Amino acid sequence: MSEVAHTYPELQGRVVLITGGASGLGQASARSFAAAGARVAVADLRRDAALDEAAHLGSDHLGLAGDVADEGDVRRMVDAAVARWGRLDVLVNCAGIPDTFQPTVEQDVAAFRRLVDIHLCGTYMMCKAVAPHMLAQGRGAIVNLNSIAGVLGLARRNAYSAAKAGIGMMTRTLGCEWAAQGVRVNAVAPGYMLTPFSQRLIDEGKLDAQRVRRRTPAGRFGTAQHIADAVLFLASDRAEFITGVTLPVDGGYMAWGAASDAYDGPLD
Ligand SMILES: NC(=O)c1ccc[n+]([C@@H]2O[C@H](COP(=O)([O-])OP(=O)(O)OC[C@H]3O[C@@H](n4cnc5c(N)ncnc54)[C@H](O)[C@@H]3O)[C@@H](O)[C@H]2O)c1
Repeated sequence: MSEVAHTYPELQGRVVLITGGASGLGQASARSFAAAGARVAVADLRRDAALDEAAHLGSDHLGLAGDVADEGDVRRMVDAAVARWGRLDVLVNCAGIPDTFQPTVEQDVAAFRRLVDIHLCGTYMMCKAVAPHMLAQGRGAIVNLNSIAGVLGLARRNAYSAAKAGIGMMTRTLGCEWAAQGVRVNAVAPGYMLTPFSQRLIDEGKLDAQRVRRRTPAGRFGTAQHIADAVLFLASDRAEFITGVTLPVDGGYMAWGAASDAYDGPLD
C-alpha cells in the first residue's frame, strides 16, 4: 500500500475528475489520487496529453479531451466520467493559462476575455456540471486553483488576477450554498511552484527566478507535489468540516509584509 493510500484510505475507489490534469499541478494531483486508489478522469485541452497521462496511470483511469471554457465540452467531460463510473466524488479545477504581462493600455480585450473564460467561467461551469451528481450523492469535494495573484496586486496581470480573485470568492459562495448538503468547495492558492507553466514564464523573461526566491520566506520555489498534497487533504474526509476556504501553499509568500527581502540565504 502506498503512503498516500495509508494516509487517506477513504479515497480508495472514489471518482476524481481533474481539469488541466495532463501537466503540472493537475498531473501531480492525478498521480497522487491514483496512488491513493482513486479512479481518475484526466481532462485536458490537449487530447493526446490527457490520453497519455491516463494511460500512464493505468487501465482504471480515463483520459478526456475538452475546453473548460466551452459549456458543451464541460458537459461532455462530466457525462463521460459519470457514464464510466456512475458517480463523481471529487473535482479539481487545474486548467489554466498565464496572463500576457503586457502594460494595460496595450492589452487586448479578447485575451482578457479568454483568460476570464478559462479560469473563472471554466471553474464555474465545471462546478455547476458536477454539482447535481454530488448533491444527489449527499457527498462531494471540489478543489479550485486560486493563486497569490488572486489575493495580492501583481501589476499587468489584470485578467489572471481578477479571474483568480473571482475563483476565491466563488469558492466561498459555493461552499456556503452546498455545505449542508455534504458538498465542500475549497481552493489552494499556490505561490511560485516549478511547473511547465512557471518554467515558461522564466524562459520568456517574464519571471525572475532569483527575485522570486528572495521574496519567498522559504527561499525556494514550491513543487507540484506540494500542491497535490494540499489538494488531497482538502478532498479527503480529514477536511470534512472545512469549506469555502482558500489555503495558501506558498512558502510564506503571502505572509511576508516587510520592505526587505524575505530570504537572505544562499541562492544556488
Ligand atoms: N505553477 C504555478 O506556479 C502556479 C501558481 C499559482 C496558480 N497556478 C494555477 O494552477 C493551475 C495549474 O497550473 P500549472 O502550473 O499546473 O500549469 P500547466 O501549464 O503545467 O498545466 C495547465 C494545464 O491546463 C491545460 N489547459 C489550458 N487551458 C485549458 C482549457 N481551456 N481547458 C482544459 N485544459 C486547459 C493545459 O493544456 C495544461 O495541461 C492554473 O490554474 C494556474 O493558474 C499555478
